[in-house]
Amino acid sequence: MNFPVTRMRRLRRTEAMRSLVRETHLHPGALIYPLFLCPGEGVRRPIGSMPNVYNLSLDEAVKEAERCAALGLGGLLLFGLPSQKDEEATGAWADDGIVQNALRAFKKNRTLDSLVMMADVCLCEYTSHGHCGVVARDGDHYHVDNDASLALLAKTAASLARAGADIVAPSDMMDGRVAAMREAMDLASLEDVPILSYASKFASAFYGPFREAADSTPQFGDRRSYQMDGANLREAMREIELDIAEGADMLLMKPAMPYLDVIREARQRFDLPMGAYQVSGEYSMLHAAFERGWLEPQRAMMESLLSIRRAGADFIVTYFAKDAAQVLG
Ligand code: PBG
Repeated sequence: MNFPVTRMRRLRRTEAMRSLVRETHLHPGALIYPLFLCPGEGVRRPIGSMPNVYNLSLDEAVKEAERCAALGLGGLLLFGLPSQKDEEATGAWADDGIVQNALRAFKKNRTLDSLVMMADVCLCEYTSHGHCGVVARDGDHYHVDNDASLALLAKTAASLARAGADIVAPSDMMDGRVAAMREAMDLASLEDVPILSYASKFASAFYGPFREAADSTPQFGDRRSYQMDGANLREAMREIELDIAEGADMLLMKPAMPYLDVIREARQRFDLPMGAYQVSGEYSMLHAAFERGWLEPQRAMMESLLSIRRAGADFIVTYFAKDAAQVLG
């Protein structure tokens, strides 16, 4: 039936009507807030390239986590800035590492029980060179040694799980890391801790502001030999298939807005729970436009999050998590 019998505008007439026929919804429980933990006490250091995002010492992080729980967020994704960096990323897997210490403190605090504590597993914040794995040098050449990195990544995952992580989330993009982590955790009787694999992670310019927040800029070279080329959707599907075969329990897609087609395709092909990471650059470019008065902050924020849900993500890791939860009431 065509016009005039069919009139699409009938169902758009009032907010009540629009609400009734809305297909996609956002709720605070599907939002995950990233936290950047740093050494010290009483530290709340603003990140220049990310408005309203801070490096937090543990005492401040506890307060922030309590606010997140009160807002009904689904969880936190934890990153650490260690006091020392070295070639072996000791701070990543040390049992008294910065994220391990935070996890133990969070787990003792019952007001945080509603938050799923996710620990990012990667070496880049902890290595002196800023790469996500072990670097082998040969004269002027270097390469990120995949297999040598696996042992350290596996040790990191087990250490974070032992400290209380509810979920470990590998973001390094080494081949075989999911299987290595599953094995290490199972051997340590941590078989109940799920792996959220950043299975589809592209080498992206949109991680720029994060590298300031996490102090993880590579000192030489770039990440293109381990993160995916932005042109490749089929390759992303293979990465996901392999991670599932290795034992991934959940998938994380990243970045989000420039890769909504990849999220959609993954949703159609795979039945695992799937999140998407609205990364630092996505957040900061929206904020830059807000500051200039070029975009309406609340509407643009909600629309960006809705687009990611509509593409097929079950949950969203986003620096807007608290602001969006506030809007959602
Ligand atoms: C660590 C990691 C990065 C991000 C999450 N985990 C940075 C990178 O790969 O360079 C980016 C998150 C963001 O931009 O918000 N490897």
